[in-house]
Amino acid sequence: MTIKVAVIGASGYTGGELLRVLATHGNVELVHATSREYLGKYIGWVHPNLRGFYSNLKFGEVDVDRISDKADIVFTNLPAGASLEIVPRLIEVGMRVIDLGPDFRLRDPEQYQKWYGREHPHRDLLERRVYGLPELHRDRIRGVDLVACPGCNSTATILTLMPVLRDRLVEAGRVAVDVKVGSSEAGRKPAPGSHHPERANVMRPYEAEGHRHVAEVEQELIEFAGDGLRVAMVPHAVGSVRGVLATAHVWLNEGVEEQTIWRSYARYYGKEPFVRIVRGGVMRYPDPKYVLGSNFCDIGFAVEGRIMRGALFGAIDNLMKGAAGQAVQCMNIMLGLDEVTGLMSPPISPI
Ligand SMILES: NC(=O)c1ccc[n+]([C@@H]2O[C@H](COP(=O)([O-])OP(=O)(O)OC[C@H]3O[C@@H](n4cnc5c(N)ncnc54)[C@H](OP(=O)(O)O)[C@@H]3O)[C@@H](O)[C@H]2O)c1
Repeated sequence: MTIKVAVIGASGYTGGELLRVLATHGNVELVHATSREYLGKYIGWVHPNLRGFYSNLKFGEVDVDRISDKADIVFTNLPAGASLEIVPRLIEVGMRVIDLGPDFRLRDPEQYQKWYGREHPHRDLLERRVYGLPELHRDRIRGVDLVACPGCNSTATILTLMPVLRDRLVEAGRVAVDVKVGSSEAGRKPAPGSHHPERANVMRPYEAEGHRHVAEVEQELIEFAGDGLRVAMVPHAVGSVRGVLATAHVWLNEGVEEQTIWRSYARYYGKEPFVRIVRGGVMRYPDPKYVLGSNFCDIGFAVEGRIMRGALFGAIDNLMKGAAGQAVQCMNIMLGLDEVTGLMSPPISPI
């Protein structure tokens, strides 16, 4: 079976990573890739790592009718706000859509208004879309026509916290997550803070008083933790190009020990193809360096029994499990393919 795929926003970082993964997937053919800035240019002209792949394909326009004629499924990799206009038109013409942007992640339109500062014009789509985190919503992703993929900070944070909240091992009312992120998270378009002399070697906190990803983290985890859940999240820009490390500081409930946490992670992730529980070895805790280029999320933890505190760690490649890899995992599920198709390559090391 060959599935025909289109990628809208294919010249950016998540779009480029999607093209990289799809190039060796085996069950898909890329039939359309869009860029307004690079319209008419070959793929390898913009993404030099893809030279020799897609040799006959040039960037095309966001032409919904043409895309629906040619493709079975479409990925949209657009900045906040842009999907609001394009995704509904794709759904209207019968396409199945996997959106990597934030516009359809929040189920509640009031929350969208609060965190994104604009009214959501497509409440009907919010009701039927599924949040694209397979470890939580695999069964619902299967039959749906619109998947809203999580943000990369949210993916690392939710996967790190879900088991311990679900098993009521930690105080849900005070969870503090410190997230370190590489520069590719900000996308390809340059900004004053992302210009190399300003961005290289930084350890810079940002959006410390309410990062938008908190909204989706609470939305997804409240179901397991109850209404008392309170998550504080402070992202830090660091000098690497790829990678997210989420460190969740939690206070342990009575009787919780290292083994209790270990068993909780093993229960929920023991059979997950892309979650690895890290313990021991030369590198004792998860580090994004050891998942780069892969769809894995490495999870680990430390327990300080003296003060009943836990530090829980989740490491991903923001462009893979945080974006393109996760999106392809969702596509595989939607299409009834083996979930790991095209994704089971080990991380690159050393890098
Ligand atoms: N970077 C990450 O680590 C990451 C992880 C998870 C989720 N995301 C989310 O994924 C989305 C894409 O991120 P990115 O990092 O790939 O951004 P990016 O590098 O800036 O790429 C954005 C792409 O969208 C196209 N585009 C921009 N505005 C458009 C419009 N109005 N209509 C049609 N095409 C438009 C751009 O190409 P042209 O301007 O040439 O058309 C480009 O191909 C964002 O919502 C981001 O928040 C990013």
